[in-house]
Formats: sequence, C-alpha cells, structure tokens
Amino acid sequence: MADSAATISRPRVLSGMRPTGKLHLGNYMGALHNWVNLQNGGQYDCYFFIADWHALTTDYADPSNVLQNTKEVILDYLAAGLDPAQSVLFVQSHVPQHAELHLLLSMITSLGWLERVPSYKEQQENLVGKDLTTYGFLGYPLLQAADILIYQPKFVPVGQDQVAHVELTREVARRFNQYYKLDGRDVLPEPDSLLTPSPKLPGTDGRKMSKSYGNTILLSDPEPEVRRKLKTMVTDPARVRRTDPGDPDKCPVGDLHKVFSPHQTIEKVYAGCRTAGIGCIECKGWAADSLVQILNPIQQRRASYSDSDVQDVLKEGANRARARAEQTMVEVRAAMQLTPMPQAVR
Ligand code: TRP
Ligand code: SF4
Repeated sequence: MADSAATISRPRVLSGMRPTGKLHLGNYMGALHNWVNLQNGGQYDCYFFIADWHALTTDYADPSNVLQNTKEVILDYLAAGLDPAQSVLFVQSHVPQHAELHLLLSMITSLGWLERVPSYKEQQENLVGKDLTTYGFLGYPLLQAADILIYQPKFVPVGQDQVAHVELTREVARRFNQYYKLDGRDVLPEPDSLLTPSPKLPGTDGRKMSKSYGNTILLSDPEPEVRRKLKTMVTDPARVRRTDPGDPDKCPVGDLHKVFSPHQTIEKVYAGCRTAGIGCIECKGWAADSLVQILNPIQQRRASYSDSDVQDVLKEGANRARARAEQTMVEVRAAMQLTPMPQAVR
C-alpha cells in the first residue's frame, strides 16, 4: 500500500489530466508514457488522477460529456500501463479534500496572481462562445494548486504548457508557509515540475497532434482506422510525383517513423525517400505497422478491464487518495488554527 507505515515512504509524484475524451498518441507521448515510466521505476509513490472539476470550469453550461469522458480517460490510463497495484488512480471529485484546500488557499491568493497566469487570457480568447468570466474559471490554477499541494509531492510531471501552473502552486505554498506553521515547521513543501523531454508529434495534417485540430490518432483506434488515417496524412510537399525525391526530416510521416519505428525501418525510409526509391504509400504502410505494434498491447489491456473492474479501481483509488489527502488537511487545519472537530463528528 502506498505510504502505509509498513513501507518505507518514498517521495511522491502527482499529476492529472482533464477528461477530454479518448486519449490520442500526442497525450500518450507527451505525458502518459512518462507517468508509466515513473511508476515502473519504483522510486516514487505515484498519484494520477482525472480532473473532472477542472472540466466544469469551461463546460459548466453543458456537463453532459464529463462522465463518459472520465470513463474513457481512466480506461486509457489503465490501457497505457498505469497499474492500480502500483499507483493511486482516482477521480478528483471523489476526494472532496481538494475542494476544502482550494477554499482555504483562496484566502491567501491575490487576484493579480490568478489574472496574470497566461492561460487565463489565452483561453478566454480561444474558447469563443463560452462565458469564462466566472469565479471558477479564474480559480482554475488555484484548484490545480490544491490538487498538487494536498499530496505534498516532490515532483509534478507535466508538459511545458503546465509549468506556469506549477509556478503559481509554488507561490501559493510559499505564502501559506509564511503565514502558517505547525510546531514551527512548513506544512506545504514547494513541488518542482518534472519536465520529461517528449518528441514533437505531428497529427495527420502535419500540425501538432491535438484534439482541437481534429488530426489525432487515438490510443483506441482499431488497426483499419490507423491505416486509413495514415493514408490521409500529409507528406513532404517536395514529393509531388512518385519520382521526386523527398526528405523525411521535412515530412510528418518521417517524424512518426523517428518516434515509433525500429532502426532498420528508419534507415530504409531515409534511403528510399531521398532517392525516390520508395513511394509515400509504402512508407505510410510501414509507419502504420509501427503504430499498430505500439497500440496492440495498449488495446489488449483496454479490453481486459470490465466496467466493474474500473469501478473497483476508482473505489480503491478514492479511498487511498482520500486517506493521504486527509493527512495533509489535518496539518493544514491545525496550522490555520481552525476549531478542532469534536471526536464524535469525525
Ligand atoms: N491543468 C491540467 C491540464 O490541463 C490538469 C490538472 C489539473 C493537473 N490539476 C492538476 C495537472 C494537478 C497536474 C497536477 O492538463
Ligand atoms: Fe514522407 Fe515517407 Fe513520403 Fe518520404 S517517402 S515524403 S518520409 S511519406
């Protein structure tokens, strides 16, 4: 059991994703794959969750997809190799302590800090048609700070896009520790981002793979779908005719090969493309072969979990996360000199 008295306690890592629906290869290479490696390295006590409350900050007007998306993401976590026997896997809203810490941290967080987080203005401009002038949306990064600080983790493995949120988290922890101590000690250690270098992954249109561009290959796409999507993928624009040589370094299919194909294939691609010895259709077929190789074990694991297995995983995850979160809250409440709860209430 994570963090039980019987095990030597390891430093913790914590990360999460919003439930955006079935995950794609970009999510996998950008985050999930790194999480699985952290878990399997055995150095850390790992906590990974699904930020369903964060989904509501933008989707409050129509929350009808959040539940289904949460189920898809937990299945993708399991499919990718996150193992409930090794990591604590849970849903944010199952651990109400996150909301309590969010509230308490809101007392010491100045509006200016939140207004200056880059994603605040960016998202308001990008998500046209949604009214994001809400309290909940402004508080998005503070809720994230609570998600993080409540597990007192050493590291938060995230992509570059989340670094500003971890910075705010550190600022909030620093202010908390200045105001409140427990027996002279700090209660909320400042965590560090753990940026794992991840390869740039193009989608079928050559832009960064992203759900909002509609250019993704899903972890759960069956083989024929993967092959179909690869066929539509853009290539080096220099190869207009079959006899024109090309350059895999200027081709999104070439980028996929570099991430997913074995050495020999990559060599065949470079040699064949530059001499026009191979055609793009053949080359795309090889890229599809490589993707199918990666996706096969992921899809087999996905299929091995029944609905009731997932319910069990989430139940056990919620229990373990709550127990760990409550430990921190006991310290936080005491440091803030809140009235101790009478025994009978607890
Ligand atoms: N904001 C993150 C994202 O969009 C999701 C998230 C919420 C998160 N709480 C977190 C990530 C805590 C790491 C730690 O992907
Ligand atoms: Fe791209 Fe392959 Fe065609 Fe070269 S042969 S342009 S790498 S798809």
